[in-house]
Amino acid sequence: TGIVGIIGAMDAEIARFLEEMQQVETREIQGIHYHKGELSGVPVVVCKSGVGKVNAAVCTQLLIDRYRVESVIFTGVAGALHSDLDIGDLVISTECQQHDMDASPLGFPKGTIPFQETSVFPADPGLIEWAKKAGESIEGVKVLTGKVLSGDQFISDVEKVKQLREEFNGACVEMEGAAVAHVCHLSGVPYVVIRSMSDRADQTAQVNFLEFTELAAERSCLMVRHLLQQK
Ligand code: ADE
Repeated sequence: TGIVGIIGAMDAEIARFLEEMQQVETREIQGIHYHKGELSGVPVVVCKSGVGKVNAAVCTQLLIDRYRVESVIFTGVAGALHSDLDIGDLVISTECQQHDMDASPLGFPKGTIPFQETSVFPADPGLIEWAKKAGESIEGVKVLTGKVLSGDQFISDVEKVKQLREEFNGACVEMEGAAVAHVCHLSGVPYVVIRSMSDRADQTAQVNFLEFTELAAERSCLMVRHLLQQK
């Protein structure tokens, strides 16, 4: 089997993997540290992209070009949009979209990329099923599947939450997933995004993010570890 690329945006989101990886070989490419090794017997490359869509896109393209990964899993934290989601709960992406893409003055619907046939990037059905099974083995945590929205904005406003839910039907919002999805789509590489909720993207988001990122990042890691164990 091929190599699985695992990306997180921040240190907390990949720390657990680095602790557990065997026979790690680290290479720095364009400022990103790529850690090649094994997790649960699966060959992986784990890396920290940094925050935002451009960082995530560069990181993903390098994983594809330099490591020929067979699939990409993004793990990390997000702000909840769906009302059923509590802090710590998990979302498995069915698809991703860039909510901050807006050429509406030219007549293009918000969130759609002009002159491009796809703006909503579907996650890989096999990886989604795997993730769902992995989710069933984690007790006391709700796992939803739904659309992950990404933009270069930290959302902390209820009106914006309402808009993202109503306009794009987003389950959660973060800052990288749709960039990873877009890059994977262009190269035909299967991907899935797994996110645990650190906050509700409302006026309490800053405080919650600081308090719950560690817990949420760990939950998301746990989910990915369970997924790899089933592979
Ligand atoms: N990641 C975690 N919480 C977030 C939020 N509220 N907005 C954007 N990205 C996030």
